[in-house]
Amino acid sequence: MISKRRKRIGVLTGGGDCPGLNAVIRAIVKTAINIYDYEVMGFLDGYMGLVYNRFTKLSLEDVSGLLDKGGTILGTTDSFDPFNMMVDVNGEKQKKDMSRHIVDNLNMHNIEGLIVIGGINTISTAYKFTQLGIKIIAIPKNIDNDIPGTDSSFGFYSALNTATKALDKLHSTAESHHRVMILEVMGRRAGWVALQAGIAGGADIILIPEIPYDINSVIRKILDRKKSGKNFSIICVSEGCRPKNDAIEDAGEEKGALNTLSNSISAKIAGEIEAITDLETRVTILGYLQRGGDPSVYDRILTTRLGVEAVNMAAQGNYNKMAGITNNQLSPVDLSEVAYKCKNVPVEGELVKIARNMGVGFGD
Ligand code: F6P
Repeated sequence: MISKRRKRIGVLTGGGDCPGLNAVIRAIVKTAINIYDYEVMGFLDGYMGLVYNRFTKLSLEDVSGLLDKGGTILGTTDSFDPFNMMVDVNGEKQKKDMSRHIVDNLNMHNIEGLIVIGGINTISTAYKFTQLGIKIIAIPKNIDNDIPGTDSSFGFYSALNTATKALDKLHSTAESHHRVMILEVMGRRAGWVALQAGIAGGADIILIPEIPYDINSVIRKILDRKKSGKNFSIICVSEGCRPKNDAIEDAGEEKGALNTLSNSISAKIAGEIEAITDLETRVTILGYLQRGGDPSVYDRILTTRLGVEAVNMAAQGNYNKMAGITNNQLSPVDLSEVAYKCKNVPVEGELVKIARNMGVGFGD
């Protein structure tokens, strides 16, 4: 009796890491093996693992105890494009399209479908692979929450917890020293982290990319607080925010480790506040603390939901979609509706309005 070959699915994690990656890998593997008797191949370090054929067969043992572990056991690469891979040819850097090689590797392994866990860049690359006949299911991941087609990407609420706790801590030192404290948070081209952490952390001013700021408006807010007896102010700044008169950077511009204290937008803002008001102003760049550590309770449930859903979609042959959540209901979205897009903060939306109701200034 020839035993029926088990269906095989592939998994990879791409782009910046965040809490919850291991939790979603765990949900995928447990569902694939326990419910569908699939084999699961984990490709290492994102699309690079597909290029170099670096993989590991994932077992229930491999994912045991992963639910609360930060990072990704598969590894990841940020800003790696397999369609434009930089290779060294006779000492000269050249771009090479490795997509056909990846398709061959996937076919060699008899991979029925590939689950891609990533942010916009990773998902957009996955969409390109669907046009080469690869069957894809995407899971929205990143702390920025800038992925359309889902209420939130996983990792976002974990980052919010970290940023909110940081703002809580800054209140006591700001008040003790009568200072202006700036917390710079991540978010790339969208201001979701700054907006929601700012609301949760009681910031007095929130600066986001969607609302270019006027430094004079920021200073007026600080001085009004001082007149009312508040000798300190807390400003939550999104790394992508820009002053009104500044050339708008390319929305796709990669941020990243470039944000050091010296060249950050927060350093610029702090310098202007001190120069104009003579008030002591200090900057904290939260940076990669928002990307590390264990997932929040919300993200543990969200990743489990999305991981199970992704495998169910594979079993139903419901490919070339992203497993999304809309109004807290699982709802798959065509990759064509997600790729190359960015979900920005609606400036007339409810969250901006309630922040203004709380007296928050947006620098406008
Ligand atoms: O997309 C997640 C993110 O953390 C952004 O918020 C941030 O701008 C970027 O990644 C940092 O990229 P890298 O990890 O390449 O420095």
